[in-house]
Amino acid sequence: LSKEGHIVTGVDIMKDKVDAIGHGRPTVIEPDVERLIAQGHQEGRVHATHDAELAVHSTEVSLVCVGTPSGRDGALHMDYVAATAKDIGDALAEKEGRHLVVLRSTVPPGTVEELVVPTILELSGKTADEICIVIIPEFLREGTAVADYHAPPLVVVGTSEGEPEQDHAAAIADLLSVEVDHIQWVQYRQAELMKSLCNVFHALKVTFANEVGALCSEAGIDGHEVMRLLTLDRKLNISAAYLRPGMPFGGSCLPKDLAATIALANQHYVNAPLLRSIAESNEVHKRRSCEAAIRCNGHRRVGMDGLAFKADTDDLRESPMVTIAEFLIGKGYDLRIYDPAVDTARLTGTNRSFIEEHIPHLADRLVGTTDELLDHSEAIVLTRGSEELLAAAHVRPDAPQIIDLTLAGRDSLTATQESETVEQLAAATT
Ligand SMILES: NC(=O)c1ccc[n+]([C@@H]2O[C@H](COP(=O)([O-])OP(=O)(O)OC[C@H]3O[C@@H](n4cnc5c(N)ncnc54)[C@H](O)[C@@H]3O)[C@@H](O)[C@H]2O)c1
Repeated sequence: LSKEGHIVTGVDIMKDKVDAIGHGRPTVIEPDVERLIAQGHQEGRVHATHDAELAVHSTEVSLVCVGTPSGRDGALHMDYVAATAKDIGDALAEKEGRHLVVLRSTVPPGTVEELVVPTILELSGKTADEICIVIIPEFLREGTAVADYHAPPLVVVGTSEGEPEQDHAAAIADLLSVEVDHIQWVQYRQAELMKSLCNVFHALKVTFANEVGALCSEAGIDGHEVMRLLTLDRKLNISAAYLRPGMPFGGSCLPKDLAATIALANQHYVNAPLLRSIAESNEVHKRRSCEAAIRCNGHRRVGMDGLAFKADTDDLRESPMVTIAEFLIGKGYDLRIYDPAVDTARLTGTNRSFIEEHIPHLADRLVGTTDELLDHSEAIVLTRGSEELLAAAHVRPDAPQIIDLTLAGRDSLTATQESETVEQLAAATT
């Protein structure tokens, strides 16, 4: 920050850290930091103090980056964030003019809305118009902190509405040394959660690579080369593909190749708990989808879009939609299904023998048009989220209830209903 021309006052409760910065010395071992702190100190742009009030009064922006260590249950400890919010709120009570507060610590969803904003506004006696409070998750990594600061992988700013607030967009972009257009403006909770999820995703990747490495090394295959090839694919592997919440996976390839890889690991006596847990997690999600599908508000005549494992194919092998359809029928719902690819296959005989052999009980449930589906249904279970079907459903005078299993928020379920069911399911599956 000081190199970019800002005048920075560091506030800490630890004497050693304040003394070190006060003498132009770094508090961490980190490439380039020693030089930058010394230079900033020499040029009078880096200061340190224990006095939060003094720091708030002499600056326009407060960056909060206090520790949020794990408690015994793994949940993050918020006492330092709470203490800092209190310090800033108290100090702002005596400060004229507007102020920007930026939370950079990693915190659980709800922290800004439920702790930081109420504390600061209440203690300062100011309004949200006078004090802008945002969260900007920090993505820099130790060891490459300065380089990452100058080239962040992502710039996310959380605000109350998910949009730039007041006229702070330019000040925030300036603070981060990025163009305003490069900022992703999201709601507080999205910013808070996505930061932790980035690290969870990194942990998942490391674990996956290590299980692959262990398997390869026992099987006499070069694991580094295998992973190099895997990561070369930027279309399906290292991309947004397969990373949208919604339906469980299925089809003829993913379950089969997963099972084969686990069998290979077993043959080589390689313990691969991550790989083994994938099918179980998918089964839990199938069950969750089935339970969600029957939240029909007492309606019995139900329609479903999709039966094959994905759109535009008639492949029914391991299709989660078949499981959901069977679950609904088993529960006594009067089900109709619209899947043009499967219906065409049935009518043209392309995959008729498979359909007759494996899903004779479902073949009769297929309807040929969205109108037929809507004529029948008091509730529609969306597995594909067809916009055409949704549009047709909404214009009906007796519009059916929509249950959106793709989790794209097109249904009428509330968050409470959702979490209750997930908890019930977790209990059931345990
Ligand atoms: N270390 C990283 O690379 C990194 C990267 C991204 C995000 N984060 C997040 O940033 C936050 C800080 O991480 P860290 O590794 O720098 O933690 P840290 O524990 O090394 O430093 C936190 C500092 O906050 C000070 N502090 C505590 N309470 C205070 C108060 N009331 N007033 C003033 N200072 C106070 C502590 O004395 C300490 O010096 C955490 O939420 C962490 O998850 C860290």
